[in-house]
Order: sequence, then C-alpha cells, then structure tokens
Amino acid sequence: MPNRAATRVVAHRGASGTLAEHTLAAYKLAVDEGADALECDVRLTADGHLVCVHDRRVDRTSNGRGVVSTLELAQLSELDFGSWKAARAATGTADADDTGADTDADADEADWADAEHTSVLTLERLLEFATGCGRRIELAIETKHPTRYAGLVERRLLELLHRFDLVTPADGERTPVRIMSFSQLSLRRVRELAPAIPTVFLMERVPLRFRDGTLPHGARIAGPGIDLVRANPGYVAALHRAGHRVHVWTVDDPEDVELCLRLGVDTIITNHPRRVLDQLGR
Ligand code: G3P
Ligand code: CA
Repeated sequence: MPNRAATRVVAHRGASGTLAEHTLAAYKLAVDEGADALECDVRLTADGHLVCVHDRRVDRTSNGRGVVSTLELAQLSELDFGSWKAARAATGTADADDTGADTDADADEADWADAEHTSVLTLERLLEFATGCGRRIELAIETKHPTRYAGLVERRLLELLHRFDLVTPADGERTPVRIMSFSQLSLRRVRELAPAIPTVFLMERVPLRFRDGTLPHGARIAGPGIDLVRANPGYVAALHRAGHRVHVWTVDDPEDVELCLRLGVDTIITNHPRRVLDQLGR
C-alpha cells in the first residue's frame, strides 16, 4: 500500500505551474499551498551573486537577452521575469517543459506588475523568505553548470548557507537544505566543503556503473527524472535496496504521481504542489 502521507512534495521552481518560475511570488504561493520544500536552480552573475534562474540565458523567462553569467545583478534587476508567464496564462499556452500547465484562479488573480512577480530572485532573498516564513520548509538547491567558475558556485553557495546558519544549524536541528546536481564534480565539491549537507545526484539516464542502484561516492539521494522512472520502474527498488532515498522530478501528471506512490518514491518534485498534495490526501 503506498504511504501517501509520508511522501514529501517539493515545489519545482516554486509553484511554477501557476506563477512565473523562480519568482518570490511563486515560492510564497508554494508555501501557502503546503509544499514541504522549495526547489531552485542557482547560477552566478558576472559580479558574483547567486541568482535563481534555470536556463543559461535569460531569453525564455525574461524580456531581456543574454547569458546569466555575463550579466551583473543590476542588469538582471532591470529585466521583467514575470510577464512572459502572464502572457501564457492569458492565452492558455502551455510552458515548453510543463506537462500539466493550467490557467487557474491563482494565475487570473495574480498581480503581474508586482515586483515579487517580476523581479529576478537572488538566492539570498529566497533564503531570507524561507527562513522567515513561519514554518520549517526544506530547500532543494540545484547547481547549474558549475565548472564555468571552477568551483566558485559551490563556494559562494556554502558561504551563503553558513551566513543563514543552514549548514549545521545552531539549534541542533538537521539542516533543511540539500544540494542537487547532474554534475558529479559539483556534488564532490559540496561534500568536501560541507559533508553535513545531503547531496542529490540528478539523472536523466542511469550511468552504466550505477545501474545496480549505487550512486557516486557520498551522494545519499538519487534524483531520477520521471521519464527514466516510467521506462525503468524497477530502478527505484534498486536504489532503495542500495540504501538511497529517491526524489523524482518533474511529476505533474496524476498517473505519474500514482506510479511514484506505487514504487514508494520518497519525494515528488512538481510544478503543481497543491494538486499533488490533494492527490496524496494532504
Ligand atoms: O529538481 C530537479 C530538476 O529540476 C532537474 O531538471 O532542468 O528542471 O533543472 P531541471
Ligand atoms: Ca532544477
């Protein structure tokens, strides 16, 4: 019997099925909707700030053009990271990577002009919000293209997490943070800098040497994509047998949620946290 209550729900880029991804508004909505954790991607700007942006370029999610790592925070701050989503919501156009896009009431009511809906989000601002939101909320932070600055992404990330007392919290609580990456090198750097922080090895395909359910040295959690799980459902059991937890992304289709539950997946990462929580009966 699937344990619906035990399955954790992570808001992928915030409640990004409803509001523009990686905006503060999308994260606030995710917390209001009851998500257990917030997922974000981080990249370094040209002047060394960590910002929450998925793509290498800003073109898809803003009204600007250019590569994130070549732009300064002040330049990113002039861009509008929200209106593209409003336009899609108004026309009912699905996001390119969203299997379950909707134009629900939250989107209709959203104040698209508000800065929380349109500003680039720094990781610092997201941590401020998450640590002050009034309840424990976990953070699943993904490092993107970490080699460009030869480890600087991980160093800056750990500096910031230390500043927020999120690495080995003084209150003795376990850290609410985990760091994810498709890059084994990035995870290795994180482990060396902060062994207490759990790492998640993201996979679109299973590398040959990890077919038995083992993971790169030190990685505690597996992060397979839902396509991989659909094609190879037995892999979840192999990961569990090897002692790893399994966090699957990006699970928006109710049938995929059921599949994850049947397989005993520990955590579902979704663009639609409220919908998934409803399906879990939470
Ligand atoms: O949560 C993991 C997932 O976000 C990885 O894929 O492309 O959405 O960052 P992507
Ligand atoms: Ca991600």
